[in-house]
Amino acid sequence: MPKTTEPTSSTAPATPPASPDARRVAVVLAAGRGTRLRSATPKVLHAAAGRPLLGWVLDAARGAGCAHLYVVVGHGADDVRAAVGDADDVTFVVQAEQLGTGHALAQVAPHLRGGNAAPTLAFVLSGDVPGVTSATLGSLAEAAEADGSWGAMAVATLDEPGRLGRVLRADADDDALARIVEYADADDATRAVRRINAGIYALPAPQIFDDLDRLDTNNAQGEFYLTDALGLAVADGRRIALHNLADPGEAFGVNTRADLARVHRRLLDRHVAALMDAGVTVLEPARTTVEAGVVVGADTVIHPDVTLLGTTRIGAGCEIHQGAWIRDATLDDDVLIKPYSVIDRATVGARCTVGPFARLRPAAQLHEDVQIGNFVELKKTEMHPGSKASHLTYLGDATVGPRSNIGAGVITCNYDGARKHETHIGADAFIGSDTMLVAPVRVGDRATTGAGSVVNQDVADDDLAVARARQRNIPDWTTRRRRATAEPSD
Ligand code: UD1
Ligand code: CA
Repeated sequence: MPKTTEPTSSTAPATPPASPDARRVAVVLAAGRGTRLRSATPKVLHAAAGRPLLGWVLDAARGAGCAHLYVVVGHGADDVRAAVGDADDVTFVVQAEQLGTGHALAQVAPHLRGGNAAPTLAFVLSGDVPGVTSATLGSLAEAAEADGSWGAMAVATLDEPGRLGRVLRADADDDALARIVEYADADDATRAVRRINAGIYALPAPQIFDDLDRLDTNNAQGEFYLTDALGLAVADGRRIALHNLADPGEAFGVNTRADLARVHRRLLDRHVAALMDAGVTVLEPARTTVEAGVVVGADTVIHPDVTLLGTTRIGAGCEIHQGAWIRDATLDDDVLIKPYSVIDRATVGARCTVGPFARLRPAAQLHEDVQIGNFVELKKTEMHPGSKASHLTYLGDATVGPRSNIGAGVITCNYDGARKHETHIGADAFIGSDTMLVAPVRVGDRATTGAGSVVNQDVADDDLAVARARQRNIPDWTTRRRRATAEPSD
C-alpha cells in the first residue's frame, strides 16, 4: 500500500506558525481595489504560486508569532472574508472608503488604542506584497526594538524601482529614515533614488495612531499616506530603522498583471530552491512549477516543464519526466513518471511506472510495482501489486488483483446511461486485448478472457471466457471477387 500522508488543504501555510507572542500583532492592509489589474477579483485574492497574495502575507505573520491578525478589508470585503475563512486569530476591520494606506491603518485604532490596550509591536503589512518572510519580520522586530529605535521598516535597492515609494535616509552612513516620497510626488532627482519602501513595517502601537491623526491629503494622489506618518515620527525626533532586505525580491508588490507574473515566478523559485537544498534534482528550475504545499523526497529528479500542485507528496528516488502534471496526489518512493502524464488526486505506490501519456483520475490507487502505459485512463480504480495495464485502456470503478494483466484496448463499460457499476478482476487474471467488461461483472482468479470479447457475465476462477462471433474462413474469396469485378458485365 502507498503510504498515506495526512492531507492538507491547498491554502495550508507553507511556514509553520511560531508560538504566538501576545505583544506582537499584524495589521494587513487589503482594502484596495487594485485598479491597474482591471479585474473583477479584489487584488489581494489574485493567486501567486497557487495561493492568494493575502494568504502568503498572513502565513508570514503567523510564522513570526503574531498573536492576532487584523485584516483591513474594503473593496470586495465579502470575498476577502470568505477566502480567509473563520480563524480565531483574525479580525476583519472594514475601511468603507479607501482613502489611503494611512487611513486604512487608522481603522484598526479602536482595537489597539485606548482604555486597556496593552503596548504592542504592530507589523503593518501590505496585502499585495506576498514575498515577505517570517524571518524578515523577526529581523524587523529586532531593529524596531533595538536601543534608540522607535520603529523599523524594510527597504530594498532595486535596479528597476518603478513606481514604489523612494526612501531618503537621515544620514548617508546611518540606516535611519528621513522620509518616504511617493513616486507621484517625487521630482526627477528623488525618482533616481533606487532605495524603495517595501511596504513592510514594525511600529509601536498605540503610538502610531497619534501620528496618523495628524495626516492630511496634500499630495499628488489626495490620499492619507501611511508613509507620511513615518515622516512625522522622524520629524519629532523618533528613529525609524531601515532594514535592508537581503533578497530584494521580497519587496516585489503587485500593482499590475506583470507584477503578478513576477511574484508568481519568484515564489515558485523560492520553493524550488528549498527543494534543491533538501536534495531534489531540478534540471531546469525556471521551467518547473512546484507550489509551496508540495513535498518532494531526496534524490527525486524533476525534468523540465513538470507541474506539481496543491498538496502533492512525492517520495524519494522518483523520476518525474517532462510535461507531467500532478495535483493533490501521493507518490511513494522510486516511482517513474514518464513524459506527459496527468495525475490528479490519485495515489501511486512504490516502484510503479506510469506513462507516457497516462491519466490517473481521482481515486485511482496503484499499489506497489504497478505498470500503467500509454493512453491508459484510470478513475476510482485500485490496481493491486504487480498488475499491469500497458496500452489504450479505460478502467473506471474497478479493482484489479495482484499480477493481473490488462491487455491493450480493454475497457470497463461502467456506465449504463443512468448509474455507474463496478468491475472486479481477481489475482493473476489475463484480460485479453479489446475485452469490453460490461459492469457489474467479476472475473475470477487466474481467469482469462479472449481478445475482443464482450464480457457481461461473471467468469469463475481458472475459466476462459470467449464472447465473440466464431471465425469463418471463406476459401479463395479474394481471387473470386477480383475475377467478378474484372469481367465486363453486359
Ligand atoms: C505603497 C506605499 C509605497 C510603497 C508600496 C510598497 C503608501 C502611501 N505608499 O504604495 O511607499 O513603496 O506600497 O508596495 O503607503 N490599501 C488599503 N486601503 C487604502 C489604500 C491601500 O487597504 O485606502 C492597501 C492596498 O489594498 C494594498 C496596500 O494597502 O494592499 C498598498 O496600497 P497600494 O495602493 O498598492 O500602495 P502603493 O501605491 O503600492
Ligand atoms: Ca502596492
